[in-house]
Amino acid sequence: MSGKDYSKYFIAPDLKEAKKRGKEDIQVLQFDQIPQEMQGIGSGKKYMIETYGCQMNVHDSETIAGILEQMAYTRTESHQDADIILLNTCAIRENAEDKVFGHIGSLKALKTEKPDLILGVCGCMSQEESVVSRILQKHQHVDLIFGTHNIHRLPYLLFNALMSKEMVVEVWSKEGDVIENMPKVRADGLRAWVNIMYGCDKFCTYCIVPYTRGKERSRRPEDVLNEIRDLARLGYQEITLLGQNVNAYGKDFHDITYRFGDLMDDVRKIGIPRVRFTTSHPRDFDDHLIEVLAKKGNLVEHIHLPVQSGSSEVLKLMARKYDRERYLELVAKLKKAIPDVVLTTDIIVGFPGETEEQFAETISLVKEVEYDMAFTFIYSPRDGTPAAKMKDDVPMEVKKRRLAELNDVLNEISKKKNALLQGRVVEVLVEGESKKNPDVLSGRTRTNKLVNFVGPKHLIGKMVYVSIEKAQTWTLKGKWVEEISKSPVA
Ligand code: SAH
Ligand code: SF4
Ligand code: F3S
Repeated sequence: MSGKDYSKYFIAPDLKEAKKRGKEDIQVLQFDQIPQEMQGIGSGKKYMIETYGCQMNVHDSETIAGILEQMAYTRTESHQDADIILLNTCAIRENAEDKVFGHIGSLKALKTEKPDLILGVCGCMSQEESVVSRILQKHQHVDLIFGTHNIHRLPYLLFNALMSKEMVVEVWSKEGDVIENMPKVRADGLRAWVNIMYGCDKFCTYCIVPYTRGKERSRRPEDVLNEIRDLARLGYQEITLLGQNVNAYGKDFHDITYRFGDLMDDVRKIGIPRVRFTTSHPRDFDDHLIEVLAKKGNLVEHIHLPVQSGSSEVLKLMARKYDRERYLELVAKLKKAIPDVVLTTDIIVGFPGETEEQFAETISLVKEVEYDMAFTFIYSPRDGTPAAKMKDDVPMEVKKRRLAELNDVLNEISKKKNALLQGRVVEVLVEGESKKNPDVLSGRTRTNKLVNFVGPKHLIGKMVYVSIEKAQTWTLKGKWVEEISKSPVA
């Protein structure tokens, strides 16, 4: 650390402290008005947010944007034009962190050229002590570091950063309260993220998230439902309920018995055409939830159900708290209750000590379940997690080979599944012009498959029927049939 005194601003994160889960109840607080002296502070100035990581971070960036816009900042996508650049970071794997450090380094030249630029680092990496000390030591051009638990403090932190020549660091080791009514700038008027809970108590042995996001805290049902009703009134077509483990929703309520299945049953009655959720942990997937999902309507027939491994031994070491058989039983139940369900998953290969036989069990499980899509990763050790201390004798070439083999199997299955849709008419929510060709429109099915088709631009933002003509591994090509005039949900 350099000789400067950071004590005035510095609240450091501490992984050990983060692990101590308090029993004290979480309070629900309202977001304060922006203090008067900070209200117009961004007038004529621009902000830029670069987001890494999962949907939780994407949605946090929408909140950060909301706060900055209340302070009169406007958005830019150009580094050169920005007066504030915030990097909302992800700590899930080493390569995610490397990318951020590379970028922090490359912004040094811009900071030298524009000394008044405020460069901030927030998100999950800021919750790690090692990251904060590395920034303090090697990246003195950073002005502001804050974490995932104190986003609502941004106006004060930014004010300090603007007034001070020192780096402002405020990262809370432990989660705070649930803050309602935070302002948000949502990406489009079509699809919206809605947090239903924060944090994670699962402590899978490889995962950093329980340390960076704190303990599980559910938002009150009325707050979630009111937010969704507002989105429906504003004309949103699709919402995605967010939590690291949405199936644990409500477990932390002491005064009411109201769980994820109950929430979904209530959301089902709101006039929003599509409702998704992510991510669900197989362990807490109860029968009531299955029953509710089987009612369909606006609850789409797509479930992202991370399995991580097909080997019960590896699952045990991962502390996933289910085994291969229980996972397959759950899949069978889901397929029975929702015959056209589309299942997707996350898989880690090369967990410490994973044998060839154990990997083969993952391949056989993938073939048995027949996932439509999967996110696959090579295990990355995270400092402070139990798995990082496990003996890992699997060479990197072997891990890479396993990943490639697994992806080949998954791609074959996706292709086969998509081919089944050829000749069928599917409901598509039209998102916009295709990235590759502005003459082509693209959108998604209820099961989140990307569909490209030729059609008039006025269909953007609408729900349409498309007949699928050609299936590829990741996308479907189709022909526009008709616009769906009535929302599918009354
Ligand atoms: N809460 C979600 C997962 C969030 S992280 C869930 O439990 O389903 C997204 C995915 O990243 C995980 O499902 C896992 O497959 C992967 N992942 C997490 N930690 C990892 C690590 N240390 N190395 C490699 N992949 C990891
Ligand atoms: Fe990480 Fe496991 Fe929590 Fe998912 S459930 S965020 S993998 S600890
Ligand atoms: Fe990354 Fe944090 Fe999400 S570690 S995956 S941004 S919860």
